[in-house]
Amino acid sequence: MRLAKYLALSGVASRRRAEKIIGQGRVVVNGEMASKPEHRVNPEDIVEVDGKIIDGPEEKKYILLNKPGGYISTVTDTHQRPTVTGLLKNESTRLYPVGRLDYDTTGLLLLTNDGELAYRLTHPRFKINKEYLVQVKGKPGEKALESMRKGLMIDGEKTAPADVKILKSDKNTTSLLMTLREGKKRQVKKMCDAIGHPVITLDRVSFAGLRYDGIKRGDYRYLTGKEIKKLYRLVGL
Ligand code: URA
Repeated sequence: MRLAKYLALSGVASRRRAEKIIGQGRVVVNGEMASKPEHRVNPEDIVEVDGKIIDGPEEKKYILLNKPGGYISTVTDTHQRPTVTGLLKNESTRLYPVGRLDYDTTGLLLLTNDGELAYRLTHPRFKINKEYLVQVKGKPGEKALESMRKGLMIDGEKTAPADVKILKSDKNTTSLLMTLREGKKRQVKKMCDAIGHPVITLDRVSFAGLRYDGIKRGDYRYLTGKEIKKLYRLVGL
C-alpha cells in the first residue's frame, strides 16, 4: 500500500498530513528515507517517523454496546467511576466511544478505533439520527412539544429541528420519543428542562439507523460488514 495511506491507517496523521510529513523527509522505511507519498510499503517493512518506529495499521473494530446506567462513556475517568470500555471482554485494541452518553443514560453506544468514521458520525454536518426514549416529569403540552420540534434556545444556541412525540402518559410522567440530528452536550436533558419537564430516565434506542434489539444492558456485539458499509455510505466515505 502507499506510504501515506499506511501512515494514516496506523493513526499517525490524516492522509493529507501524512503526505506532508513524508515530503518533509521525516519518514524512514527499512533504514532509508522515503520522501514520496506513493512509496510502496508492505506489512513486514519497518517504518519510522521522526526516528520512532510505528506500529502498522490496526485492524478496524466496530462495537455496538447497550450501555447500562452508572458507566462513564470516556476511556478514563478522574473520579474512578466504571467506564464503558471496561465492559469489553478480551478486547486488547483501544476503542473509543462515538460521541457520549451521560453517566446515568442507557442505550446504544458505538465504540471503534476508526477515527474518520467516528468523526463524521458525530459531526453535525452529517445530521445523524439519534433516537431517545425519554421519561419526563408531568405532561408537556402541545405548545411545549412544538417548541422542541422547531428548536429552542439552550446555552445561548438554538437547537436544530427535532422529532418529538408522546408515546404514553400517566398521572405524573410522560414517555416521549425524541429524534435529534445533532449532539450538543446533555442536549435532551437541557431541552426537557427548557420546557419545564425534567428528564427522569433517558435511553438511546437508535443511532445512525442501528438498534440494540436483543442485546442486554452491559452486553455488546460487533457490527456486521453490511452494517459497517451502511455507516460508511451514510457519511460519504
Ligand atoms: N442527551 C442528554 O441529555 N444526555 C445524553 O446522555 C444523551 C443525550
